[in-house]
Amino acid sequence: MPHALKNSTKSEIVMVSLLENPLRVGLQQQRMPDPQIIVIFGASGDLTQRKLVPALYKLRRERRIPPETTVVGVARRDWSHDYFREQMRQGLEEFHDGIGPAELWQDFSQGLFYCSGDMDNPESYQKLKNLLTELDEKRGTRGNRIYYLSVAPKFFAEGIKQLGAAGMLDDSEKERLVIEKPFGRDLASAQSLNRVVQKYVKENQVYRIDHYLGKETVQNLLVFRFANAIFEPLWNRQFVDHVQITVAETVGVEDRAGYYESSGALRDMLQNHLMQLFCLTAIEAPNSLDADSIRTEKVKVLQATRLADINNLQRSAVRGQYSAGWMKGKPVPGYHDEPGVSPSSTTPTYVAVKFLVDNWRWHGVPFYLRTGKRMPKKVSEISIHFREVPSRIFQSVTQQTNGNILAMRIQPNEGISLRFDVKMPGAAFRTRSVDMDFSYGSFGIEATSDAYDRLLLDCMMGDQTLFTRADEVEAAWQVVTPALSVWDLPGDPASVPKYEAGTWEPAEAELLINQDNRRWRRL
Ligand code: BG6
Repeated sequence: MPHALKNSTKSEIVMVSLLENPLRVGLQQQRMPDPQIIVIFGASGDLTQRKLVPALYKLRRERRIPPETTVVGVARRDWSHDYFREQMRQGLEEFHDGIGPAELWQDFSQGLFYCSGDMDNPESYQKLKNLLTELDEKRGTRGNRIYYLSVAPKFFAEGIKQLGAAGMLDDSEKERLVIEKPFGRDLASAQSLNRVVQKYVKENQVYRIDHYLGKETVQNLLVFRFANAIFEPLWNRQFVDHVQITVAETVGVEDRAGYYESSGALRDMLQNHLMQLFCLTAIEAPNSLDADSIRTEKVKVLQATRLADINNLQRSAVRGQYSAGWMKGKPVPGYHDEPGVSPSSTTPTYVAVKFLVDNWRWHGVPFYLRTGKRMPKKVSEISIHFREVPSRIFQSVTQQTNGNILAMRIQPNEGISLRFDVKMPGAAFRTRSVDMDFSYGSFGIEATSDAYDRLLLDCMMGDQTLFTRADEVEAAWQVVTPALSVWDLPGDPASVPKYEAGTWEPAEAELLINQDNRRWRRL
C-alpha cells in the first residue's frame, strides 16, 4: 500500500508521559501525523503570524507533530526565507509567550520557507511546485501537502483553479485543501465556490475552517449533551422555553474595514460561528463521532431551521451599527468614523435573529442568536431557558422569576452553570435563585487555546469532524438568505439601528425578544 496521509492515524503512535498533571495520570496515547508541508497562501497576513505558525510551533513544542514538518509561506511580497522566519519569530514574541528554548526555535524555523507569488499567475504555482518537490527531498515530507488558503475570500476560487490546473491537487490521499471563512457571501456564491472546489478536489480533501469548532468548550457541547443521561430527556420542546446564544466582542472593526465593510456581523460571525453553536445545541445524537455522522446531523437541523417570520423581517432579524461611545473609560469612534469605513455604510456590526426549528424536538421553541462588536464585554454563552413551573406557590425574594437556566460559557471563564431556586433560611417559604457552577479553571488545564492548533492537527491527521461540509455551509446560508436579500439592498445608513459603543444591543433588538415576553440575559 502506498504511504498515505489517510492512514496517518494508524501510522505512528507516541506514548507521552503526562504524569505531571494529576488529571491526566498515567500514559496517554497521542496521535502523530505523517511529515508534511503546510503551504500557507496569504502568509504575509496577520493570521499566519498571530495564529497559524504559533499553533504549529505549539504543536511542535508539545511533540505532537514530527520534526520534518515544513511550512511554506506564499504571498506577493518579495521576502526571503530568513525575513519570513524573523516575522514569525516576532509574532511569537509579540502575541504569544515567546520562542521558548532557543534550540527548538532554531530547529523549527529551519523548516520555514517563503515563496513569493501571485494568486492568479500560473508561473507562481510552477515555482512553488518546484520548491515543494525540492523540500520533499530535503525534509522527507513524502509528497504530503496541505494548501491553506488564508487569503481574501475573493481569491479562493482563483487559488483552487490554479492549484488544480498545476496538478497540485490530484492526489486525494496526500493533498488537502484548507479554506478559511467566510465560505461564500450568500447561498449563490457558496454554491458557486463549492462547484469550483468539487471540480478540482474530492470532498474528503476539503477542510472548510470555522475556528469556533476548535474551541474546547464548543467540542464539550457534544460531550455534555451525549455523555450525560440526565439532560437529554429535558432537551426538547416539552421542557425548554427558549435558547439564547450570545457572542459579544469588545473590539471594533480595528484595521479590517477592507474586509469587514463587505461582510458585517451576519456574514462574519452569525452564519458560521454562531450557527455552529446553534447546531451543536440543537442536533440529534449522532450515531458515532465520525465526521459524517456529526455533519449529517448538523445538516438535518439546519434544513429544519428558518427565520421566525420571513414576511415580517423585523420580527425575526435585527441589525445594528455602533456609534461613538466609551470603552474602559476611553472615548471610541463610531463605526462610520473608523478608518476605511464609508460614511454611507449600512454594514451591520451587530445582528440578532430569532430562529424556529421545524422538527419534533424543537417545534415552537425559539432560538435567539445575537452577536456584536463594541459590546460592554467579551463573552460567548449558550443559555437554555427551561419552562417555568406550572404554578408558583412560593414567593421569590428577588421578585423576578428566571426559571431554571443552564448556561454554557464558551469564553471567557469557560464552564457550565445551572440555575435553580432554593429556600431562603427563615420561617417563610421564600426562594432565591442560585447557580451550581463548573469551571474549566478547576482542572488546572488551559481550555482556551486559540483552537488553530487543534484544527491544524486534525487536518494533518485527515480528521474532518471539526470542519464544515459543502452541504452544511450551503444549508447555513439558506437560513439567513431572507435577511441578507433585504439588507443588501442599497439603503439609507440612518435606517440601520444604532447602539452606543460600550453598550448592549440597539432598542430594536430588545424588542425582538421582548415581543415574546422574554428578555436578553444580562451577561
Ligand atoms: C473571526 C471574525 O472569525 O472571529 C472576527 O472574523 C472576530 O471579526 C473573531 O473578532 C472572534 O473570534 P474569537 O475566537 O475571539 O471569539
